Amino acid sequence: MSKEITWYKIADHLEQIPFNQNHLAEVEVLGKKVCIALKANNLKACAAKCPHAGGQMSEGYMDALGNIVCPVHHYRFNLQNGRNSSGEGYFLKTYPIEYRNDGIYVGLNENNPASFTK
Ligand code: FES
Repeated sequence: MSKEITWYKIADHLEQIPFNQNHLAEVEVLGKKVCIALKANNLKACAAKCPHAGGQMSEGYMDALGNIVCPVHHYRFNLQNGRNSSGEGYFLKTYPIEYRNDGIYVGLNENNPASFTK
C-alpha cells in the first residue's frame, strides 16, 4: 500500500493554533480531530484520542522527555514515533508537520484518511 501523504493547512501562523496552558491543542482536519503539541518551538501532531481507552490527548500534558501523557490513565507516548514509552504496548498515530511560507500543514496518508481519529 502506498504511503502517499496529502498535506492540509491547519493555520496561517502558530498564534492561530489554540494551545492550552500545557501547549496542546486540538484542530480539525477534514472534520476529524488531530492533537497538536508545541515543544521548544517544535510542532508535533498525533491522534486526538488515546489508543488505550479514548482519552482526549490535548487534555493531557508533555513530560520533560517530550512524551505526551494521556490524562486518563497516564500512559506515555513518544511524539516522534508514537511509541508507548510507558510500556503498555499501545501505539499512538503521529502525523508529520510542515512549515511553509503560507502556513502550517499536517500530513495525512491519502489512502487511509480514516486513520484520523473522529
Ligand atoms: S485512555 Fe489514555 S491511558 Fe487510558
